[in-house]
Amino acid sequence: MNVTSSLPTIRPATPADIPALHALIESAYRGDSARRGWTHEADLLDGQRTDAALLREIIVDPDQRILVAVDDAAVIGCVQIARKELGKSYLGLLSVDPLRQATGLGKQLITAAEHAAASYFDAQLIELTVIKQRSELIDYYGRRGYSLTGEERPFPFGDEQFGLPRTSQLVFVVLEKNL
Ligand SMILES: CC(C)(COP(=O)(O)OP(=O)(O)OC[C@H]1O[C@@H](n2cnc3c(N)ncnc32)[C@H](O)[C@@H]1OP(=O)(O)O)[C@@H](O)C(=O)NCCC(=O)NCCS
Repeated sequence: MNVTSSLPTIRPATPADIPALHALIESAYRGDSARRGWTHEADLLDGQRTDAALLREIIVDPDQRILVAVDDAAVIGCVQIARKELGKSYLGLLSVDPLRQATGLGKQLITAAEHAAASYFDAQLIELTVIKQRSELIDYYGRRGYSLTGEERPFPFGDEQFGLPRTSQLVFVVLEKNL
């Protein structure tokens, strides 16, 4: 039997990727599709995670990038980086197709994002935020070298661009890693 398997390619997203990128993000974060993955926000939020207009703003901003993982022309993962002040970059929107999770792609995307932040934005430190209740995800980032800073930030309640909370208890915690 002749079995071939391809490795995903990780590259910067372009506006042409937006429909597939948006579908991937929603499938990983929200609803029953997300429940097929090992960590998601489906029990904490309904509604959307993001939208095409917000993704376009990120992609055309010279101080931000979205990296996409592509396999056989399908977008199966993504991660956002954004330049912040004083050598800091923000990492967000980390997403892997729920049917492809726990195979190492999330770790590959984090590594690619760290390298991209260092090379595009001269980042020496990466910051990210996680909803405080998501302890399994905080542990995952901890195993990648990210530490809780002790800072908490408010969830944007009332802004449906970021979803419809199922609880009033949502708050972000901040994690950082020196590159
Ligand atoms: C977070 C996410 C990107 C991880 O992607 P992934 O491709 O599954 O990650 P990897 O394959 O690199 O790693 C899988 C990890 O999950 C852990 N894991 C697998 N099943 C698990 C479970 N049921 N509970 C806890 N951890 C679990 C594995 O131990 C492994 O961690 P380790 O290598 O440190 O041991 C993916 O789950 C996702 O898209 N989630 C929805 C979107 C989201 O919440 N993104 C993060 C926003 S801050």
